[in-house]
Amino acid sequence: MPLVPMRQILDEAAKGGYGVGAFNVNNMEQIQAIMEAASETKSPVIIQASKGALQYSRMIYLKKLMEAAVEENPDIPVAMHLDHGNSLETCKQAIELGFTSVMMDGSLAEDGKTPNTYEQNVEITKRVVDMAHPLGVTVEGELGVLGGIEDGHGAGLSADEVDAHLTDPAQAEDFVAKTGLDALAVAIGTSHGAYKSGRKDPKTGEILPPALAMERIHQIHERMPNCHMVMHGSSSVPKELVDIVNEYGGNMPGTFGIPVEQIQDGIKHGVRKVNVDTDSRLAMTGAIRKVFAEKPEAFDPRKYLGPARQAMKELVYVPRMIAFGQAGHAGDYEFMTLDEMKAFYA
Ligand code: G3H
Ligand code: 13P
Ligand code: ZN
Repeated sequence: MPLVPMRQILDEAAKGGYGVGAFNVNNMEQIQAIMEAASETKSPVIIQASKGALQYSRMIYLKKLMEAAVEENPDIPVAMHLDHGNSLETCKQAIELGFTSVMMDGSLAEDGKTPNTYEQNVEITKRVVDMAHPLGVTVEGELGVLGGIEDGHGAGLSADEVDAHLTDPAQAEDFVAKTGLDALAVAIGTSHGAYKSGRKDPKTGEILPPALAMERIHQIHERMPNCHMVMHGSSSVPKELVDIVNEYGGNMPGTFGIPVEQIQDGIKHGVRKVNVDTDSRLAMTGAIRKVFAEKPEAFDPRKYLGPARQAMKELVYVPRMIAFGQAGHAGDYEFMTLDEMKAFYA
């Protein structure tokens, strides 16, 4: 069973009214934990790798691990997606490697830092669509700039700055029409990482939840009910996971994530792909720290990577697959091939 085009997974999610977690991977334990969770909950799933992940895993290793994942789980629809591709060349490389979906993040220039103009974003995203669709490969684009890493200011923006970076619903409609993309990543005030809130109560100093512009998602969905939206920066950064890290020698004060209820509200209004990376990093780190603290004599990597794999599966992937609604939907449809997708686009 080959990898499934991401477009089919998103179309089916729209039909069923659910969201699909897109989980970042860098190594075997993460891939295995995701597949075990998908198999147990009977979930379609998106596995994604950033440019950094491709470099870290030296590409061919990731490709072979993904081949093993689909071979072992022929009943689970799995899409392999490039997260935050920064150029046509990177997207091409991922497709050559066998990815069934790519993100062209044209909101930023190739350096991954400088914001592009709207026209530059349209141009590069359309070029990637023109290259990918004839091969049956799905394309995600991004409009607006995510908080935190992407805007270069950290997550602590002023209200005006945040507003200027958010996705404009009218422009979103123009962007989708001009580029012909399959999935639109929207900027609504989320940011990558474990510190998603720059807001503090001025009196108590207590950290407040990040202010999300959920109404932008509602408005985009009203304008384009068939547009598949993507929520980046969607880790919930649960206190239980951070507490484990801190209890066993970590130092992560002041973390904050996106409550699952807000993601579910997005899913009700057209969000079909939900990006989660940080939560699995936290689960893995906490489990490893715990083994090191409790068994200082341990030095067999299986003794700490095994519990890390189990923690990611139990504390992140299984609960998220249930919360996003993808659980139980793996067997709803026959899987399409990239060749069939070529015909769809043509
Ligand atoms: O886009 C952010 C993802 O969490 C991937 O992060 O670039 O450190 O692999 P990374
Ligand atoms: P988190 O950092 O919230 O997990 O977001 C991941 C992401 O958006 C990957 O593209
Ligand atoms: Zn992202």
